[in-house]
Formats: sequence, C-alpha cells, structure tokens
Amino acid sequence: MQNQEQLEAQFQAKIDAGIKIEPKDWMPKEYRKTLIRQISQHAHSEIVGMLPEGNWVTRAPSLRRKAVLMAKIQDEGGHGLYLYSAAETLDIDRDSLIQDLHSGKAKYSSIFNYPSITWADMGAIGWLVDGAAIMNQVMLCQTSYGPYARAMVRICKEESFHQRQGYEIMLTLAKGSPAQKRMAQDALNRWWWPSLMMFGPKDTDSTHSETSIKWKIKRMSNDELRQRFVDATVPQATLIGLKIPDDKLNWNPERGHYDYGEINWTEFWEVVKGNGPCNKERLAQRVKAYEEGVWVREAALAYAEKKRTKSPISEVLV
Ligand code: 3HC
Repeated sequence: MQNQEQLEAQFQAKIDAGIKIEPKDWMPKEYRKTLIRQISQHAHSEIVGMLPEGNWVTRAPSLRRKAVLMAKIQDEGGHGLYLYSAAETLDIDRDSLIQDLHSGKAKYSSIFNYPSITWADMGAIGWLVDGAAIMNQVMLCQTSYGPYARAMVRICKEESFHQRQGYEIMLTLAKGSPAQKRMAQDALNRWWWPSLMMFGPKDTDSTHSETSIKWKIKRMSNDELRQRFVDATVPQATLIGLKIPDDKLNWNPERGHYDYGEINWTEFWEVVKGNGPCNKERLAQRVKAYEEGVWVREAALAYAEKKRTKSPISEVLV
C-alpha cells in the first residue's frame, strides 16, 4: 500500500512527463479542488457571458448580424455545457456548482459585469473578449486534466469564429460613416481595459498560479497571456484605424513586446468582489432563468427516468 508521499511523487512524475490525468486516476485533493474551482467558474463565465450579447439579439442591424449573433450565443451555452460536464467528472454535481454561482460563492469572469451599450459592443466583445478568451483557452488545450483539455479543443474552434465575427463588425463600423467609426472607437475605449483584466491579477498577486503551473493546469502565467493578447491585438486595431485607449502603449524593440499602461487594479478587485456596473443584474438574471426553468429540468428528468424504466432491456429482464 503506497503512502501519501509516494502517491504524490508518482502524480507529479506523471504531470512532469506530460501524461494527462484522467477522472479515475489518483490525484491530490487540492488538485481536484482547484480544478473544480477553475472549470466551474469557467463554465459560469460562458453562461453569464450570454447575457450582454442577448441584450442585442432583437436590435441587430440586419438579419445576417442577428443570425450570427444568435449562433454565437448558442455556442456559448454549449461551452458552458462542455465545461460543467468536465467539472462533473471530478465527482461534483452540477446543481451544487450552480447554487455556488447564485449564492455569490463562485465567481465568473469580471468582463461580463460591464454593460453592452451600443451595437459596436457586439463587435468589441467578439473581437476583444473572445480574443482574450482564445489566448487563454488555446493554452488550456494543453492543461494536465484530460476532460478539461479535450473540452477546450472544440471550444477553441468555435471561439475563433466568435473573434472573427466581432472583428468584422468593428471593421465594418470603422470603415463606415464618421458616426459609426465613433461608435466603434467608443466601444474599444470601454472594453479594452476590462479585457486585459480577464487574464486575472498580476502574477505577483495571483493566489493559484504557483500550484496551477506546477501541476500544469496553467501552462502560461496571467501576465504572459496578457502580454500575448496585447501584442496580437494592437496591430489589429491599427489596421482598422482605431486607437487603443492607452497613452503609455509603445512597441519596445528590446523586449520584442508592447509596453502598456497600468491596469486599474482597484476597479478589477471591486468588480470581482461584486461591485461592478452589472454584477447584481447579471446574477438576478441567472437566478430568474434557473427558477423559470425548473419545469424543463423536471420534464427532462421524468422523461429520462421513464425511458430508463421502460427500456426494452428491462422488459426482457423482468
Ligand atoms: N474575473 C473574476 N475573477 C477572477 C478573474 C476575473 N477576470 N481573474 C482572477 N479571478 C479570481 C480567481 O478566480 C481567484 O479567485 P478564487 O480563488 O475565488 O477562484 C482570484 O481571482 C485570484 O486569481 P488567480 O490568478 O490566483 O486565479 P487563477 O489561477 O484561477 O487564474 C484565470 C484566473 C486566468 C481566469 C483562470 O482561472 C483561468 O484560466 N480560468 C479559465 C478560463 C476562464 O475562466 N476564462 C473566463 C472567460 S471565459 C469567456 O470569456 C467565454 C468566452 O466565450 C467569451
């Protein structure tokens, strides 16, 4: 019988060798706990993230824009499904995760607590928010927990469509009338800094990064991913004639990266703590949707139970 120390050493050796950890494998309690935390909050982010965009479905400027926006929102619901399913492989039930969201015990991404004020916000969200999510999620395709890594593969494929359709909205507006260009620039001004906050606190303030990197849950740090996002996105803004709202932004040839200004960490932590512009509204919408959806869940469970008890095999066995 191996002791705890031997089990932990064997586990870390698997991680170091790049072997995926699967649900039935032995894993340290803390590994399981931090995965449930991160995967469930990722899932919550996908579901809450549907709300700012849902605000514009009935007001999309054309049938094509409406169809694309609806497809994207539907994808996000599917991403939440894959991620809740990945979390459930860690022997946690979905309802308890959702109760943690509703009670405020669990987090979701700060970015979704900002209002979507104009149609250009649909472009900025697709381009910047999904663009930032892609940076993070491509890295998570290499995460050490098998079900999480595999969920990421399909999510990343769909995410790249999300980013492109957002950038195309911004391109169309930036090349449109002066009023449309102003609307696009206004959206960029409002979504740029909150998008940088999506990558989490500075590495020096990150609670989980050290263990998450040791266990290869994270393959890059918060600041590394943030820098990668800035370096990729600044040229995209320049290409369509929009200006990043950061007067300290500057290409640094020695570093081979853009230097950029300081994030407003007080704003970040206030939003994370629940004091953002839309936190209360978003959570109330989620609780309302959950409560109004009880009958759907009950009907689906009743149908599944009926099918299970009535399945031909059980008739034969009886
Ligand atoms: N919003 C809310 N909370 C945040 C946050 C943010 N932007 N960034 C960090 N936090 C929280 C962390 O959850 C942690 O709190 P907790 O202990 O209560 O969970 C605390 O701040 C300290 O942060 P750490 O850096 O120590 O936390 P992590 O190591 O977990 O790193 C993370 C944060 C980079 C967001 C990581 O959790 C992660 O990669 N998560 C998976 C990706 C994800 O959730 N993305 C959210 C957006 S999904 C999306 O945009 C959908 C797309 O389709 C639009």
